[in-house]
Amino acid sequence: MLSSTFRTAISQTARHIRSLHQSAVRHGGGGALFVHRDTADNNPDTPFEFNPENLQRIDAIIKNYPEGHKQAATIPVLDLAQRQHGWLPISAMNKVAEVLDVPPMRVYEVATFYTMFLRNPVGKYHIQICTTTPCMLCNSDSILEAIQKKLGIKVGETTPDKMFSLIEVECLGACVNAPMVQINDNYFEDLLPQDIEHIIDELKAGRTPPPGPRNGRFSCEPAGGLTSLTEPPNGPGFGDLKRTIKAHDEHPGE
Ligand code: FES
Repeated sequence: MLSSTFRTAISQTARHIRSLHQSAVRHGGGGALFVHRDTADNNPDTPFEFNPENLQRIDAIIKNYPEGHKQAATIPVLDLAQRQHGWLPISAMNKVAEVLDVPPMRVYEVATFYTMFLRNPVGKYHIQICTTTPCMLCNSDSILEAIQKKLGIKVGETTPDKMFSLIEVECLGACVNAPMVQINDNYFEDLLPQDIEHIIDELKAGRTPPPGPRNGRFSCEPAGGLTSLTEPPNGPGFGDLKRTIKAHDEHPGE
């Protein structure tokens, strides 16, 4: 039997834990709903055929795998279907099953597991903001707020002109460059609110903003500058290399 003091302590702790989790609810992301319900835009009769270029690509992809193992190509072929259509209606999944000669369920299993597969329409620019702990600690909330304010949409929504969609995702593996967002295939990193506003302006204007860090550092080098490899390396083997380079500089062509 729990004492009333202990029960009160547990309930206060539970309240405290719940208050830490403030992520916005995902409304329409790739993994938001694992079941499929036919809609006017997404049903087995939704038109989808691979174009001739993609059919050639599929042939090449299948050749990467041993005879009789076409199913191994499910992910790259689903990716092709999504790139061609912009998202993955169930008719495209059925087409993937047909070209790979597998039961449709084998394809549905993959498409519903990986959140990179978008089973609902998204805007031309699909913004995925990471709000997992390292990004959260680097103020991803301010980036999320800036996007929502700039576009007038919430997480899970698409702008009326179908240009931008916004979803919140878990770690995208670029924590060292937090906070960051992924827009279509590109990562934009080390962001401040004004950076993401500028990126959105560039996309709206039809320009291509350069991906990568926005704070001037190269890739994921330490934010405070290099702490190692700041001079030519020394040690076994490097003495010979330096002598060779020096000799080459002094007597080029020999
Ligand atoms: S926590 Fe945001 S990229 Fe890892």
